[in-house]
Amino acid sequence: SNIREDKISEETKKLISSLPSHIDYQGHKLCKYQGCWYYYNTLQGVLNFQRGFQPHDTDIIIASYPKSGTTWLKALTVALLERSKNHSSDDADHPLLYDNPHGIIPFLEIDMYHESSSPNLAKFSATPRLFSTHMPLHTMHKTLKHSPCKIVYVCRDVKDTLISCWFYSTAIYKIEPTRSVLESMFKDLCDGTNYFGPFWEHLLSYWRGSLEDPNRVLFMRYEEMKAEPRDQIKRLADFLGCPFTKQEEESGSVDEILDLCSLRNLSSLEVNKTGKINNVDHKIFFRKGDVGDSKFFLTREMENKIDMVIQEKLQGSGLKF
Ligand code: A3P
Repeated sequence: SNIREDKISEETKKLISSLPSHIDYQGHKLCKYQGCWYYYNTLQGVLNFQRGFQPHDTDIIIASYPKSGTTWLKALTVALLERSKNHSSDDADHPLLYDNPHGIIPFLEIDMYHESSSPNLAKFSATPRLFSTHMPLHTMHKTLKHSPCKIVYVCRDVKDTLISCWFYSTAIYKIEPTRSVLESMFKDLCDGTNYFGPFWEHLLSYWRGSLEDPNRVLFMRYEEMKAEPRDQIKRLADFLGCPFTKQEEESGSVDEILDLCSLRNLSSLEVNKTGKINNVDHKIFFRKGDVGDSKFFLTREMENKIDMVIQEKLQGSGLKF
């Protein structure tokens, strides 16, 4: 779904010809717009978004670098907000039972604005509207400037993200996850030329945003969500303005939501075993979800190189990685 170029306007083609370019391991072309690398059709989506999106004060945007725990964060957000509709997590009509989290919360630049700057938003009549994005924060700056809408960002250890990307991208293209593909993705990651990269610029845009306005941007980490899920989901609920009541905490509502949104549970649902979104099988979004999985695939040298690059790029930011 990243490679179709038939929806690209003449104006965008002109813009692309003036931008830095790069070619990925599959031969697909990327260009660098406002400091971030996009496949051409995603760039069209970004431009359409910038031209046409009108935020509502109550909007919630789930943001991430690809393969950082987006699916999980979307599921948790949906489950938290469903409580106000009196849905408990074992209700038979809970939306998570009927759709993949990516179907419930679409990507602005990939699913919604990819074809037009004025998509039909009829589906988004309920409040709050839930959207998602992989764009860096600075790319949304002008569009969201005067809006108090909330943004939740999740990030993940960059080595685990790389490995997750390797399996995901080769699964999508239905090719073997070979060492040579991994090495090529590793190089692009370190050079900062990968899709939605550079990784560190992505991180830093949201990190700075969360420091400047902590009521508007929540910075979460996959590893913390795994290590202390109860604390992190409460933090998310507080930020979204729907904290758990004492009664809910006592009745086990926190654990119910965590169970509902667990990788094990979501991946066992019929909709996630058999469904598709944009020609991508839902099941590809669920793999292992382990912290530190990358150590089984990366050489020591690769690990050191990534650590060095990240350390250097994040130096002085206060962000530890
Ligand atoms: P692995 O490939 O390391 O297993 P994203 O959702 O941003 O695409 O990130 C995908 C990663 O999140 C995958 O990691 C996937 O297994 C993991 N994941 C998906 N659903 C999850 C869930 N409900 N809980 C925890 N991790 C999940």
